[in-house]
Amino acid sequence: MATLHRTAPPAPTQAALEPRMPPGPRLPRILQTAGFMLGSSPWFIDACRRRFGDVVTFRTLFDSRFVMVFDPALVKELFQGPGEQLRAGEANAMLGPVVGERSVLLLDGSEHLRHRRLMLPPFHGRRMQTFAEAIRRSADLEIDAWPVGEAFALLPSMQSLTLRVIMQAVFGYEPGPAEEELRRRVRAMVEPLARPRSLALLAAMPMLVGREARLNDRFASARRGVDEVLFAEIARRRALGDEALADKDDVFSALLLAEDEEGRRLSDGEVRDELITLLLAGHETTATGLAWCFDLVLHTPAVHAQALQRDEPYLDAVVKETLRIRPVIPGVGRVVRGEPFRLGGYVIPPGVEINPSIRVIHRREDVYPDAGAFRPERFLVEDPPDTYSWIPFGGGLRRCLGASFALLEMRIVLSRVLERAALRATSPEPAKTQFRAITLAPRDGVQVVQDRPPAAA
Ligand code: HEM
Repeated sequence: MATLHRTAPPAPTQAALEPRMPPGPRLPRILQTAGFMLGSSPWFIDACRRRFGDVVTFRTLFDSRFVMVFDPALVKELFQGPGEQLRAGEANAMLGPVVGERSVLLLDGSEHLRHRRLMLPPFHGRRMQTFAEAIRRSADLEIDAWPVGEAFALLPSMQSLTLRVIMQAVFGYEPGPAEEELRRRVRAMVEPLARPRSLALLAAMPMLVGREARLNDRFASARRGVDEVLFAEIARRRALGDEALADKDDVFSALLLAEDEEGRRLSDGEVRDELITLLLAGHETTATGLAWCFDLVLHTPAVHAQALQRDEPYLDAVVKETLRIRPVIPGVGRVVRGEPFRLGGYVIPPGVEINPSIRVIHRREDVYPDAGAFRPERFLVEDPPDTYSWIPFGGGLRRCLGASFALLEMRIVLSRVLERAALRATSPEPAKTQFRAITLAPRDGVQVVQDRPPAAA
């Protein structure tokens, strides 16, 4: 594959691991920060890529030196690198006050692998079938609640849908007052984070949550509200005994039973952190992906017409193409520790974070010709984009644990809505992108209208 290296230096020998940083803009940090924050498109990053090539050093007010990567071949080097040396947990540290310090998202090295191995099995096998049913039921509930002849935003509806799915499939709650109460508490905790400009809130959170005196802060008390319910539920389920838990289909019960090679189980605190992690990682992201999916389908008549036939491989391709052209998470991070890390002929010293830009890689013309066009067919060819060119779920040892779950959920919801409801977009143009702390979301929440009641479920 063609790369855009302008001045690729010779590969250093093992003996000479002197830092050799990639080139980058010399603009003051404040201007580079503005370049990242202003506008809904990555114009600043694109301009720097054109000027400096496929691996660029940036400096912002948030980080005095970090490296962005735009070439799938370099992404491969990074994703295949050792987890001890390339620390995603450290790169995610900002999420600590929300998900908890024992979350798989925050751990690195052997502890990360231990948690990941305990968490992966429930996301495969027989449970996926149960998940599919919960997803369909939840889609029907949303569709039945949509107004007729009146515009409404799809994003909040998708948020409520995906949260309900997590409550049932991951937490194992039956619909009812207990489930509603936990859902209400979770939304109270998540909503302030899902607003535009909430990055500042996240950045300030260690101070807010770290000091007990300030626990009357809205976020911290919302978090305690969720913890109360979760710890009570953990105690209740442990009291049921292993046999009763083994009969259940949800991830919560599986986490309580999971044992590592030495027979150790997750502690109450660890289970709490992982439940919150699954909830936060899996709910807003999938809802945002779904809102984008409808926005793109409703604004692309040829795709809409074909999707209405509800052929499974085609819908799958629609979902994948959505996550390509509108990746929900713009990039992932790995902080170098221990030895310097060699990357494409450069040598990145410890302490520096390396970020593959999902957003920019997904728009490479050499991988995705006419990259701005929404074309699901790209994923229906014999040789579809590989795991280093299509990276909406990150990759390597840290690839999203819920990727199959999210793809299944998006496909089922898309199919169910196309089957039952005739939606049309209210605006002639697709939605603009808005950065919301962690996700890239449609600014207007995707306004749609249905002119007649949905078909019966
Ligand atoms: C469209 C929906 C989703 C997107 C775009 C998404 C994206 C991502 C990304 C980019 C990462 C970081 C990967 C890396 O650093 O290489 C990640 C990690 C993770 N995601 Fe997702 N995700 C989605 C849905 C879900 C769902 C449904 C769940 C679970 C129910 C989930 C659970 C996780 C977990 C536990 C991790 C941490 C994995 C680790 O550190 O080992 N995600 N996700």
